[in-house]
Amino acid sequence: AFVVTEPCFDCKYTDCVVVCPCDCFHEGERMLFIDPAHCIDCEACVPECPVEAIFHESNVPEEWKEFVALNEEMASVSPSITERKQPLATPNR
Ligand code: SF4
Ligand code: F3S
Repeated sequence: AFVVTEPCFDCKYTDCVVVCPCDCFHEGERMLFIDPAHCIDCEACVPECPVEAIFHESNVPEEWKEFVALNEEMASVSPSITERKQPLATPNR
C-alpha cells in the first residue's frame, strides 16, 4: 500500500483524493491517511501531490517510517474523503 507522510502535515492539498480509484483516503485534522486495506498500489496519487508526501510502504524515507503504522491506524478512525477542498497551506517545500 501507499502511505501519506510528513509533508502532508498542515498542508492537506487533497489533489490526491480525486484520482484514487478505490476511495482510500481518510481525513485527519492535519493530514490525510491511506487505508492500506483498500489501496491497490496503482500509484495514481503519487504524482498528484505537490509536496511529494506519498510513498510506497516499502520505500518510505527512514525518518518517516512511523507513518506506515499511523496511516493504517488513523485511516480506520477517520472519515473518508473523496473530493478536493481548500488546503490548510500552500506548498512551500
Ligand atoms: Fe489510491 Fe492508487 Fe494511491 Fe492506493 S496508490 S491510495 S489505490 S490512488
Ligand atoms: Fe496531502 Fe499531498 Fe494529498 S499534501 S492531501 S498527500 S495531495
